[in-house]
Amino acid sequence: MVRKSLIDMKEWKDLQDHYAEISGVHMRDLFAADPGRAERFTLFAEGIYCDYSKNRITEKTMDLLCALAGACGLREETERMFAGARINETENRPVLHVALRNLGGGPIMVEGRDVMPDVKGVLDKMGAFSDKIRNGEWKGFSGKPIRHVVNIGIGGSDLGPVMAAEALKHYSMRDLDVRFVSNIDGTHIAEALRGIEPDRALFIIASKTFTTQETMTNAVTARDWFIEKTGGRGDVARHFIALSTNREEVVRFGIDPDNMFEFWDWVGGRYSLASAIGLAVMISIGRGNFMKLLDGYRRMDGHFRNAEFGRNIPAVLALLGVWYNNFFGAQTHAILPYDQYLHRFPAYFQQGDMESNGKGVDRSGRPVAWQTGPVIWGEPGTNGQHAFYQLIHQGTKMVPADFIGFARPLNPLGDHHQKLMANFFAQTQALAFGKTEDELRAEGVPERLVPHRTFSGNRPTNTIMAEKLTPETLGSLIAMYEHKIFAQGIIWDIYSFDQWGVELGKALARRILPDLDPASVPAPGHDSSTFALIKFYRDCRQRK
Ligand code: F6P
Repeated sequence: MVRKSLIDMKEWKDLQDHYAEISGVHMRDLFAADPGRAERFTLFAEGIYCDYSKNRITEKTMDLLCALAGACGLREETERMFAGARINETENRPVLHVALRNLGGGPIMVEGRDVMPDVKGVLDKMGAFSDKIRNGEWKGFSGKPIRHVVNIGIGGSDLGPVMAAEALKHYSMRDLDVRFVSNIDGTHIAEALRGIEPDRALFIIASKTFTTQETMTNAVTARDWFIEKTGGRGDVARHFIALSTNREEVVRFGIDPDNMFEFWDWVGGRYSLASAIGLAVMISIGRGNFMKLLDGYRRMDGHFRNAEFGRNIPAVLALLGVWYNNFFGAQTHAILPYDQYLHRFPAYFQQGDMESNGKGVDRSGRPVAWQTGPVIWGEPGTNGQHAFYQLIHQGTKMVPADFIGFARPLNPLGDHHQKLMANFFAQTQALAFGKTEDELRAEGVPERLVPHRTFSGNRPTNTIMAEKLTPETLGSLIAMYEHKIFAQGIIWDIYSFDQWGVELGKALARRILPDLDPASVPAPGHDSSTFALIKFYRDCRQRK
Protein backbone atom coordinates (compact mmCIF):
# COMPACT_ATOMS: atom_id res chain seq x y z
CA MET A 1 0.00 0.00 0.00
CA VAL A 2 1.37 3.43 -0.93
CA ARG A 3 1.63 5.55 2.18
CA LYS A 4 0.31 9.07 2.30
CA SER A 5 3.13 11.50 1.72
CA LEU A 6 4.73 12.45 5.04
CA ILE A 7 4.23 16.16 4.56
CA ASP A 8 0.54 15.69 3.74
CA MET A 9 -0.16 13.93 7.02
CA LYS A 10 -2.25 15.78 9.54
CA GLU A 11 0.28 14.86 12.25
CA TRP A 12 3.06 16.50 10.23
CA LYS A 13 1.05 19.67 9.72
CA ASP A 14 0.24 19.75 13.44
CA LEU A 15 3.96 19.66 14.11
CA GLN A 16 4.57 22.50 11.65
CA ASP A 17 2.00 24.62 13.49
CA HIS A 18 3.54 23.67 16.79
CA TYR A 19 7.02 24.54 15.53
CA ALA A 20 5.77 28.06 14.79
CA GLU A 21 4.64 28.32 18.42
CA ILE A 22 7.78 26.93 19.98
CA SER A 23 10.69 27.93 17.78
CA GLY A 24 11.17 31.21 19.65
CA VAL A 25 10.88 29.67 23.14
CA HIS A 26 14.09 29.39 25.16
CA MET A 27 14.95 26.35 27.25
CA ARG A 28 15.81 28.74 30.08
CA ASP A 29 12.13 29.66 30.26
CA LEU A 30 10.94 26.09 29.88
CA PHE A 31 13.10 25.01 32.84
CA ALA A 32 12.14 28.04 34.91
CA ALA A 33 8.45 27.36 34.37
CA ASP A 34 8.61 23.70 35.31
CA PRO A 35 10.67 22.45 38.26
CA GLY A 36 9.72 18.88 37.32
CA ARG A 37 11.02 19.17 33.77
CA ALA A 38 14.12 16.99 34.16
CA GLU A 39 12.10 14.20 35.72
CA ARG A 40 9.33 14.55 33.16
CA PHE A 41 11.75 14.19 30.28
CA THR A 42 14.02 11.45 31.60
CA LEU A 43 13.71 7.77 30.78
CA PHE A 44 15.48 4.87 32.43
CA ALA A 45 15.43 1.45 30.82
CA GLU A 46 17.76 -1.53 30.67
CA GLY A 47 20.49 0.29 32.54
CA ILE A 48 20.37 3.34 30.25
CA TYR A 49 19.46 6.71 31.75
CA CYS A 50 18.33 9.13 29.08
CA ASP A 51 17.71 12.76 30.02
CA TYR A 52 16.19 14.56 27.05
CA SER A 53 14.93 17.55 29.00
CA LYS A 54 17.52 19.86 27.40
CA ASN A 55 15.61 19.90 24.16
CA ARG A 56 13.34 22.50 22.61
CA ILE A 57 10.23 20.58 23.48
CA THR A 58 7.17 20.61 25.67
CA GLU A 59 4.86 17.74 26.50
CA LYS A 60 2.77 18.80 23.55
CA THR A 61 5.79 18.42 21.26
CA MET A 62 6.32 14.88 22.42
CA ASP A 63 2.63 14.03 22.09
CA LEU A 64 2.60 15.35 18.54
CA LEU A 65 5.81 13.52 17.65
CA CYS A 66 4.45 10.28 19.11
CA ALA A 67 1.26 10.76 17.12
CA LEU A 68 3.40 11.11 14.00
CA ALA A 69 5.20 7.85 14.81
CA GLY A 70 1.83 6.16 15.21
CA ALA A 71 0.50 7.57 11.95
CA CYS A 72 3.63 6.39 10.13
CA GLY A 73 3.02 2.84 11.32
CA LEU A 74 6.10 2.55 13.50
CA ARG A 75 4.50 -0.04 15.76
CA GLU A 76 3.31 -2.21 12.88
CA GLU A 77 6.62 -1.93 11.02
CA THR A 78 8.52 -2.89 14.16
CA GLU A 79 6.39 -6.00 14.46
CA ARG A 80 6.98 -6.80 10.80
CA MET A 81 10.74 -6.56 11.36
CA PHE A 82 10.65 -8.82 14.42
CA ALA A 83 8.39 -11.27 12.56
CA GLY A 84 10.89 -11.72 9.73
CA ALA A 85 8.88 -9.93 7.01
CA ARG A 86 10.91 -8.89 3.97
CA ILE A 87 11.04 -5.25 4.97
CA ASN A 88 14.27 -4.75 2.99
CA GLU A 89 12.19 -4.78 -0.16
CA THR A 90 14.77 -3.53 -2.65
CA GLU A 91 16.98 -6.49 -1.76
CA ASN A 92 13.98 -8.74 -1.06
CA ARG A 93 15.27 -9.72 2.38
CA PRO A 94 14.05 -9.83 5.96
CA VAL A 95 15.92 -7.66 8.46
CA LEU A 96 16.61 -9.83 11.45
CA HIS A 97 19.63 -8.65 13.37
CA VAL A 98 17.31 -8.91 16.38
CA ALA A 99 17.36 -12.70 15.92
CA LEU A 100 21.11 -12.69 16.62
CA ARG A 101 20.43 -11.73 20.21
CA ASN A 102 17.08 -13.40 20.76
CA LEU A 103 18.77 -15.96 22.98
CA GLY A 104 16.34 -17.51 25.38
CA GLY A 105 13.52 -16.03 23.31
CA GLY A 106 11.01 -17.79 21.10
CA PRO A 107 11.39 -18.94 17.52
CA ILE A 108 11.93 -16.41 14.74
CA MET A 109 10.65 -17.64 11.44
CA VAL A 110 11.97 -16.95 7.98
CA GLU A 111 10.01 -18.66 5.21
CA GLY A 112 8.37 -20.95 7.76
CA ARG A 113 11.71 -22.00 9.30
CA ASP A 114 12.95 -21.07 12.76
CA VAL A 115 16.36 -19.39 12.39
CA MET A 116 17.24 -19.60 16.07
CA PRO A 117 18.88 -23.07 15.98
CA ASP A 118 21.28 -21.80 13.28
CA VAL A 119 22.01 -18.62 15.26
CA LYS A 120 22.78 -20.64 18.37
CA GLY A 121 24.78 -23.20 16.40
CA VAL A 122 27.11 -20.53 15.00
CA LEU A 123 27.46 -18.90 18.40
CA ASP A 124 28.45 -22.23 19.93
CA LYS A 125 30.99 -22.76 17.17
CA MET A 126 32.38 -19.25 17.70
CA GLY A 127 32.55 -19.90 21.45
CA ALA A 128 34.41 -23.18 21.04
CA PHE A 129 36.84 -21.60 18.58
CA SER A 130 37.54 -18.52 20.66
CA ASP A 131 38.09 -20.70 23.73
CA LYS A 132 40.72 -22.64 21.81
CA ILE A 133 42.50 -19.48 20.68
CA ARG A 134 42.41 -18.00 24.17
CA ASN A 135 43.57 -21.10 26.01
CA GLY A 136 46.28 -21.88 23.46
CA GLU A 137 44.76 -25.14 22.30
CA TRP A 138 44.59 -23.92 18.69
CA LYS A 139 48.15 -24.11 17.48
CA GLY A 140 49.79 -22.52 14.47
CA PHE A 141 51.73 -24.68 12.04
CA SER A 142 54.88 -24.54 14.18
CA GLY A 143 53.03 -25.82 17.22
CA LYS A 144 52.91 -22.45 18.99
CA PRO A 145 49.64 -20.90 20.18
CA ILE A 146 48.13 -17.89 18.42
CA ARG A 147 49.18 -14.47 19.65
CA HIS A 148 48.15 -12.10 16.83
CA VAL A 149 44.60 -11.88 15.49
CA VAL A 150 44.20 -9.78 12.33
CA ASN A 151 40.64 -9.01 11.26
CA ILE A 152 40.46 -8.07 7.58
CA GLY A 153 37.15 -6.49 6.58
CA ILE A 154 35.64 -3.13 5.73
CA GLY A 155 32.47 -1.16 6.51
CA GLY A 156 30.18 -3.27 8.64
CA SER A 157 32.76 -6.06 8.68
CA ASP A 158 35.29 -3.73 10.30
CA LEU A 159 33.75 -0.72 12.03
CA GLY A 160 31.63 -2.78 14.44
CA PRO A 161 34.40 -5.17 15.48
CA VAL A 162 36.93 -2.31 15.82
CA MET A 163 34.51 -0.21 17.81
CA ALA A 164 33.55 -3.04 20.16
CA ALA A 165 37.11 -4.33 20.58
CA GLU A 166 38.17 -0.82 21.56
CA ALA A 167 35.09 -0.21 23.71
CA LEU A 168 35.62 -3.44 25.63
CA LYS A 169 39.42 -3.41 25.75
CA HIS A 170 39.20 -3.28 29.52
CA TYR A 171 37.69 -6.79 29.42
CA SER A 172 40.15 -8.14 26.86
CA MET A 173 42.87 -10.75 27.14
CA ARG A 174 45.84 -8.45 26.99
CA ASP A 175 48.40 -10.89 25.65
CA LEU A 176 46.34 -11.39 22.51
CA ASP A 177 47.24 -8.74 19.98
CA VAL A 178 44.10 -7.95 17.97
CA ARG A 179 44.49 -5.78 14.87
CA PHE A 180 42.17 -4.56 12.16
CA VAL A 181 42.82 -3.89 8.50
CA SER A 182 40.22 -2.29 6.27
CA ASN A 183 41.60 0.26 3.82
CA ILE A 184 42.71 -0.81 0.36
CA ASP A 185 45.56 1.64 0.77
CA GLY A 186 48.51 -0.76 1.09
CA THR A 187 49.77 1.28 4.00
CA HIS A 188 47.08 -0.16 6.21
CA ILE A 189 48.04 -3.80 5.78
CA ALA A 190 51.76 -3.02 5.54
CA GLU A 191 51.65 -1.37 8.97
CA ALA A 192 49.32 -4.00 10.42
CA LEU A 193 51.68 -6.82 9.45
CA ARG A 194 54.66 -5.23 11.15
CA GLY A 195 55.96 -7.24 14.05
CA ILE A 196 53.61 -10.16 13.49
CA GLU A 197 55.04 -13.63 13.97
CA PRO A 198 53.52 -15.55 11.06
CA ASP A 199 53.41 -18.88 12.88
CA ARG A 200 51.43 -17.24 15.70
CA ALA A 201 49.02 -15.25 13.50
CA LEU A 202 45.36 -15.84 12.83
CA PHE A 203 43.81 -13.95 9.92
CA ILE A 204 40.07 -13.50 10.05
CA ILE A 205 38.67 -12.63 6.63
CA ALA A 206 35.40 -10.89 7.45
CA SER A 207 33.15 -10.23 4.49
CA LYS A 208 29.47 -10.91 4.12
CA THR A 209 29.79 -11.19 0.35
CA PHE A 210 33.43 -12.34 0.20
CA THR A 211 33.73 -10.28 -2.98
CA THR A 212 34.45 -6.81 -1.59
CA GLN A 213 37.46 -5.42 -3.45
CA GLU A 214 39.24 -3.96 -0.42
CA THR A 215 38.85 -7.04 1.76
CA MET A 216 39.75 -9.56 -0.91
CA THR A 217 42.80 -7.53 -1.95
CA ASN A 218 44.01 -7.30 1.66
CA ALA A 219 43.24 -10.99 2.21
CA VAL A 220 45.30 -12.04 -0.79
CA THR A 221 48.16 -9.78 0.35
CA ALA A 222 48.03 -11.31 3.82
CA ARG A 223 48.01 -14.83 2.37
CA ASP A 224 50.98 -14.03 0.08
CA TRP A 225 52.83 -12.49 3.02
CA PHE A 226 52.12 -15.55 5.13
CA ILE A 227 53.29 -17.98 2.46
CA GLU A 228 56.43 -15.95 1.84
CA LYS A 229 57.28 -15.48 5.51
CA THR A 230 56.80 -19.15 6.26
CA GLY A 231 58.73 -20.26 3.18
CA GLY A 232 55.67 -22.15 2.02
CA ARG A 233 55.67 -24.28 5.20
CA GLY A 234 52.71 -22.46 6.69
CA ASP A 235 49.34 -24.12 6.61
CA VAL A 236 46.89 -21.52 5.32
CA ALA A 237 43.98 -23.54 6.64
CA ARG A 238 45.27 -23.25 10.24
CA HIS A 239 45.92 -19.55 9.98
CA PHE A 240 43.07 -18.17 7.86
CA ILE A 241 39.42 -18.36 8.77
CA ALA A 242 36.35 -16.67 7.28
CA LEU A 243 33.23 -14.90 8.49
CA SER A 244 30.85 -14.86 5.58
CA THR A 245 27.60 -15.81 3.93
CA ASN A 246 29.39 -16.99 0.78
CA ARG A 247 30.70 -20.52 1.26
CA GLU A 248 31.70 -20.98 -2.38
CA GLU A 249 34.05 -17.98 -2.43
CA VAL A 250 35.46 -18.86 0.99
CA VAL A 251 36.43 -22.31 -0.26
CA ARG A 252 37.82 -20.85 -3.48
CA PHE A 253 40.12 -18.65 -1.37
CA GLY A 254 41.58 -21.75 0.30
CA ILE A 255 39.86 -21.58 3.66
CA ASP A 256 38.64 -24.83 5.17
CA PRO A 257 34.82 -24.62 5.20
CA ASP A 258 34.96 -25.98 8.76
CA ASN A 259 36.69 -22.72 9.66
CA MET A 260 34.00 -20.59 8.11
CA PHE A 261 31.64 -18.93 10.55
CA GLU A 262 28.39 -18.37 8.83
CA PHE A 263 25.77 -15.67 8.93
CA TRP A 264 22.83 -14.99 6.70
CA ASP A 265 21.56 -12.54 4.11
CA TRP A 266 18.99 -11.25 6.62
CA VAL A 267 21.83 -9.68 8.62
CA GLY A 268 22.79 -6.31 7.13
CA GLY A 269 26.53 -5.57 7.11
CA ARG A 270 26.24 -2.54 9.39
CA TYR A 271 24.00 -4.53 11.75
CA SER A 272 26.24 -7.60 11.85
CA LEU A 273 28.39 -7.08 14.94
CA ALA A 274 26.26 -9.52 16.95
CA SER A 275 26.74 -12.20 14.27
CA ALA A 276 29.87 -14.18 13.38
CA ILE A 277 31.32 -10.81 12.34
CA GLY A 278 31.92 -10.24 16.06
CA LEU A 279 34.34 -13.19 16.30
CA ALA A 280 37.46 -11.02 16.76
CA VAL A 281 35.65 -9.30 19.63
CA MET A 282 34.67 -12.62 21.16
CA ILE A 283 38.26 -13.85 20.93
CA SER A 284 39.43 -10.67 22.60
CA ILE A 285 36.92 -10.47 25.46
CA GLY A 286 35.94 -14.13 25.78
CA ARG A 287 32.75 -15.98 25.13
CA GLY A 288 31.14 -15.03 28.46
CA ASN A 289 31.58 -11.33 27.90
CA PHE A 290 30.37 -11.62 24.30
CA MET A 291 27.20 -13.30 25.57
CA LYS A 292 26.75 -10.41 28.00
CA LEU A 293 27.07 -8.01 25.08
CA LEU A 294 24.31 -9.90 23.26
CA ASP A 295 22.22 -9.81 26.40
CA GLY A 296 22.48 -6.03 26.52
CA TYR A 297 21.30 -5.86 22.92
CA ARG A 298 18.44 -8.26 23.66
CA ARG A 299 17.21 -6.22 26.58
CA MET A 300 17.11 -3.03 24.52
CA ASP A 301 15.39 -4.93 21.68
CA GLY A 302 12.64 -5.89 24.12
CA HIS A 303 12.35 -2.34 25.42
CA PHE A 304 12.05 -0.93 21.91
CA ARG A 305 9.51 -3.52 20.87
CA ASN A 306 7.27 -3.16 23.91
CA ALA A 307 7.50 0.32 25.44
CA GLU A 308 5.00 2.92 24.33
CA PHE A 309 6.58 5.58 22.14
CA GLY A 310 6.72 8.27 24.81
CA ARG A 311 8.55 5.92 27.22
CA ASN A 312 10.70 4.29 24.56
CA ILE A 313 14.31 5.49 24.48
CA PRO A 314 15.11 4.67 20.82
CA ALA A 315 11.75 6.04 19.67
CA VAL A 316 12.14 9.25 21.67
CA LEU A 317 15.66 9.80 20.32
CA ALA A 318 14.39 9.14 16.80
CA LEU A 319 11.52 11.59 17.19
CA LEU A 320 13.77 14.30 18.61
CA GLY A 321 16.06 13.77 15.63
CA VAL A 322 13.11 14.23 13.28
CA TRP A 323 12.07 17.35 15.19
CA TYR A 324 15.41 19.06 14.60
CA ASN A 325 16.16 17.59 11.18
CA ASN A 326 12.81 18.35 9.63
CA PHE A 327 11.42 21.33 11.51
CA PHE A 328 14.47 23.26 12.75
CA GLY A 329 16.51 22.42 9.64
CA ALA A 330 19.45 20.91 11.53
CA GLN A 331 21.78 19.19 9.09
CA THR A 332 23.97 17.16 11.40
CA HIS A 333 23.86 15.21 14.63
CA ALA A 334 26.87 14.73 16.88
CA ILE A 335 27.59 11.67 19.03
CA LEU A 336 29.93 12.67 21.84
CA PRO A 337 31.03 9.86 24.15
CA TYR A 338 32.81 10.93 27.32
CA ASP A 339 34.76 7.70 27.47
CA GLN A 340 38.00 7.11 25.66
CA TYR A 341 37.12 3.44 25.14
CA LEU A 342 34.22 4.60 22.95
CA HIS A 343 36.46 6.54 20.59
CA ARG A 344 35.24 4.61 17.54
CA PHE A 345 31.57 4.68 18.55
CA PRO A 346 30.71 7.79 16.49
CA ALA A 347 32.45 6.32 13.43
CA TYR A 348 30.52 3.09 13.85
CA PHE A 349 27.20 4.91 13.85
CA GLN A 350 28.35 7.17 11.08
CA GLN A 351 28.04 4.12 8.86
CA GLY A 352 25.08 2.75 10.80
CA ASP A 353 23.03 5.90 10.34
CA MET A 354 24.31 7.46 7.13
CA GLU A 355 24.35 4.26 5.08
CA SER A 356 20.87 3.43 6.41
CA ASN A 357 19.09 6.74 6.16
CA GLY A 358 21.06 8.61 3.52
CA LYS A 359 18.29 8.04 0.98
CA GLY A 360 16.56 10.39 -1.43
CA VAL A 361 13.47 8.48 -2.55
CA ASP A 362 10.60 7.12 -0.50
CA ARG A 363 9.55 3.50 -0.35
CA SER A 364 7.47 3.96 -3.50
CA GLY A 365 10.47 5.35 -5.35
CA ARG A 366 9.27 8.96 -5.38
CA PRO A 367 11.81 11.69 -4.54
CA VAL A 368 11.26 12.71 -0.94
CA ALA A 369 10.04 16.24 -0.31
CA TRP A 370 11.56 16.28 3.17
CA GLN A 371 14.98 15.89 4.69
CA THR A 372 16.18 12.37 5.54
CA GLY A 373 19.24 11.24 7.52
CA PRO A 374 21.56 13.82 9.07
CA VAL A 375 25.34 13.89 8.86
CA ILE A 376 26.57 11.90 11.86
CA TRP A 377 29.90 12.72 13.39
CA GLY A 378 31.67 13.01 16.71
CA GLU A 379 34.72 12.47 18.84
CA PRO A 380 35.19 11.63 22.48
CA GLY A 381 35.01 14.31 25.14
CA THR A 382 36.89 16.14 26.39
CA ASN A 383 39.06 16.14 23.23
CA GLY A 384 36.21 17.49 21.13
CA GLN A 385 35.81 20.42 23.52
CA HIS A 386 39.21 21.66 22.44
CA ALA A 387 38.50 21.15 18.76
CA PHE A 388 35.00 21.71 17.41
CA TYR A 389 32.74 22.59 20.34
CA GLN A 390 33.26 26.29 19.63
CA LEU A 391 30.98 25.95 16.63
CA ILE A 392 28.40 23.98 18.58
CA HIS A 393 28.28 26.71 21.25
CA GLN A 394 28.45 29.87 19.20
CA GLY A 395 28.30 28.95 15.51
CA THR A 396 25.40 29.69 13.21
CA LYS A 397 24.36 26.06 12.87
CA MET A 398 22.23 24.04 15.20
CA VAL A 399 24.05 20.80 16.07
CA PRO A 400 21.86 18.51 18.17
CA ALA A 401 24.15 16.23 20.15
CA ASP A 402 24.09 13.08 22.26
CA PHE A 403 26.40 13.17 25.25
CA ILE A 404 27.24 9.66 26.51
CA GLY A 405 28.90 9.14 29.87
CA PHE A 406 29.35 6.66 32.73
CA ALA A 407 29.19 7.08 36.48
CA ARG A 408 32.01 4.68 37.29
CA PRO A 409 35.37 4.78 35.52
CA LEU A 410 37.07 1.62 34.35
CA ASN A 411 40.43 3.15 35.18
CA PRO A 412 39.97 5.01 38.45
CA LEU A 413 43.00 7.26 38.51
CA GLY A 414 43.10 10.18 40.91
CA ASP A 415 40.38 12.68 40.09
CA HIS A 416 40.38 12.10 36.33
CA HIS A 417 36.86 10.79 36.25
CA GLN A 418 35.40 13.54 38.41
CA LYS A 419 36.96 16.11 36.11
CA LEU A 420 35.79 14.26 33.01
CA MET A 421 32.23 14.15 34.28
CA ALA A 422 32.27 17.74 35.51
CA ASN A 423 33.02 18.69 31.90
CA PHE A 424 30.34 16.31 30.67
CA PHE A 425 27.65 17.94 32.79
CA ALA A 426 28.94 21.45 32.16
CA GLN A 427 28.75 21.20 28.39
CA THR A 428 25.07 20.33 28.16
CA GLN A 429 24.33 23.00 30.77
CA ALA A 430 26.21 25.61 28.78
CA LEU A 431 24.56 24.57 25.55
CA ALA A 432 21.07 24.70 27.02
CA PHE A 433 21.26 27.83 29.13
CA GLY A 434 24.07 29.82 27.57
CA LYS A 435 25.20 33.10 29.04
CA THR A 436 23.31 36.35 28.58
CA GLU A 437 24.60 39.83 27.90
CA ASP A 438 23.27 40.93 31.29
CA GLU A 439 25.21 38.20 33.04
CA LEU A 440 28.37 39.26 31.26
CA ARG A 441 27.88 42.92 32.11
CA ALA A 442 27.25 42.03 35.73
CA GLU A 443 30.62 40.29 35.68
CA GLY A 444 32.21 43.48 34.39
CA VAL A 445 32.99 42.21 30.90
CA PRO A 446 33.92 45.22 28.72
CA GLU A 447 31.08 46.22 26.42
CA ARG A 448 33.01 45.57 23.21
CA LEU A 449 33.54 41.95 24.25
CA VAL A 450 29.96 41.31 25.29
CA PRO A 451 28.74 40.09 21.87
CA HIS A 452 31.75 37.83 21.52
CA ARG A 453 31.33 36.28 24.91
CA THR A 454 27.57 35.84 24.80
CA PHE A 455 26.27 32.30 24.54
CA SER A 456 22.80 32.13 23.08
CA GLY A 457 22.11 28.71 24.62
CA ASN A 458 18.92 26.90 23.57
CA ARG A 459 21.10 24.32 21.83
CA PRO A 460 19.65 20.82 22.16
CA THR A 461 21.34 17.82 23.72
CA ASN A 462 20.45 14.39 25.03
CA THR A 463 22.39 13.10 28.01
CA ILE A 464 22.73 9.33 27.95
CA MET A 465 24.31 7.68 30.97
CA ALA A 466 24.90 4.27 32.45
CA GLU A 467 26.55 3.19 35.65
CA LYS A 468 29.57 1.68 33.94
CA LEU A 469 30.78 0.71 30.47
CA THR A 470 30.22 -3.04 30.50
CA PRO A 471 29.55 -5.50 27.68
CA GLU A 472 25.84 -5.37 28.58
CA THR A 473 25.75 -1.58 28.54
CA LEU A 474 27.52 -1.46 25.20
CA GLY A 475 25.02 -3.93 23.73
CA SER A 476 22.11 -1.83 24.96
CA LEU A 477 23.65 1.37 23.61
CA ILE A 478 24.23 -0.19 20.19
CA ALA A 479 20.69 -1.56 19.99
CA MET A 480 19.37 1.82 21.13
CA TYR A 481 20.97 3.55 18.14
CA GLU A 482 20.05 0.74 15.73
CA HIS A 483 16.39 1.10 16.63
CA LYS A 484 16.57 4.88 16.57
CA ILE A 485 17.80 4.63 12.97
CA PHE A 486 15.06 2.14 12.10
CA ALA A 487 12.35 4.35 13.60
CA GLN A 488 13.55 7.40 11.70
CA GLY A 489 13.64 5.41 8.46
CA ILE A 490 10.01 4.43 8.98
CA ILE A 491 8.97 8.01 9.66
CA TRP A 492 10.85 9.27 6.60
CA ASP A 493 9.30 6.43 4.58
CA ILE A 494 12.64 5.26 3.22
CA TYR A 495 14.31 1.88 3.00
CA SER A 496 16.94 1.88 5.72
CA PHE A 497 18.44 -1.51 4.98
CA ASP A 498 19.80 -1.21 1.47
CA GLN A 499 22.81 0.82 0.31
CA TRP A 500 22.59 1.19 -3.44
CA GLY A 501 24.36 4.53 -3.17
CA VAL A 502 27.72 2.83 -2.70
CA GLU A 503 27.50 0.88 -5.96
CA LEU A 504 28.19 3.48 -8.66
CA GLY A 505 31.60 4.44 -7.27
CA LYS A 506 32.56 0.77 -7.02
CA ALA A 507 31.56 0.13 -10.65
CA LEU A 508 33.43 3.18 -11.92
CA ALA A 509 36.55 2.19 -9.96
CA ARG A 510 36.46 -1.19 -11.69
CA ARG A 511 36.25 0.61 -15.04
CA ILE A 512 39.06 3.04 -14.23
CA LEU A 513 41.48 0.47 -12.80
CA PRO A 514 42.81 -0.83 -16.16
CA ASP A 515 43.27 2.76 -17.36
CA LEU A 516 45.84 3.35 -14.62
CA ASP A 517 48.19 0.84 -16.21
CA PRO A 518 50.68 2.97 -18.19
CA ALA A 519 50.71 0.37 -20.95
CA SER A 520 46.98 0.66 -21.52
CA VAL A 521 45.11 2.99 -23.80
CA PRO A 522 42.58 4.74 -21.55
CA ALA A 523 39.07 3.69 -22.38
CA PRO A 524 37.04 6.38 -24.09
CA GLY A 525 34.10 7.92 -22.37
CA HIS A 526 35.65 9.55 -19.30
CA ASP A 527 34.69 13.16 -18.69
CA SER A 528 37.47 15.68 -19.34
CA SER A 529 38.24 16.16 -15.64
CA THR A 530 38.60 12.46 -14.88
CA PHE A 531 40.58 11.94 -18.08
CA ALA A 532 43.04 14.73 -17.13
CA LEU A 533 43.38 13.41 -13.58
CA ILE A 534 44.18 9.92 -14.85
CA LYS A 535 46.70 11.40 -17.26
CA PHE A 536 48.39 13.41 -14.49
CA TYR A 537 48.59 10.27 -12.36
CA ARG A 538 50.07 8.18 -15.17
CA ASP A 539 52.58 10.89 -16.05
CA CYS A 540 53.76 11.15 -12.44
CA ARG A 541 54.12 7.40 -12.20
CA GLN A 542 56.20 7.23 -15.38
CA ARG A 543 58.73 9.80 -14.17
CA LYS A 544 61.98 8.28 -12.98
O1 F6P B 1 30.07 -0.86 0.33
C1 F6P B 1 29.25 -0.87 1.43
C2 F6P B 1 29.15 -2.22 2.04
O2 F6P B 1 28.34 -3.05 1.27
C3 F6P B 1 28.65 -2.13 3.47
O3 F6P B 1 27.28 -2.09 3.55
C4 F6P B 1 29.27 -3.32 4.09
O4 F6P B 1 29.27 -3.19 5.47
C5 F6P B 1 30.63 -3.29 3.47
O5 F6P B 1 30.41 -2.85 2.15
C6 F6P B 1 31.40 -4.57 3.50
O6 F6P B 1 30.75 -5.61 2.80
P1 F6P B 1 31.20 -7.10 2.97
O7 F6P B 1 31.01 -7.50 4.39
O8 F6P B 1 30.32 -7.89 2.02
O9 F6P B 1 32.65 -7.21 2.57
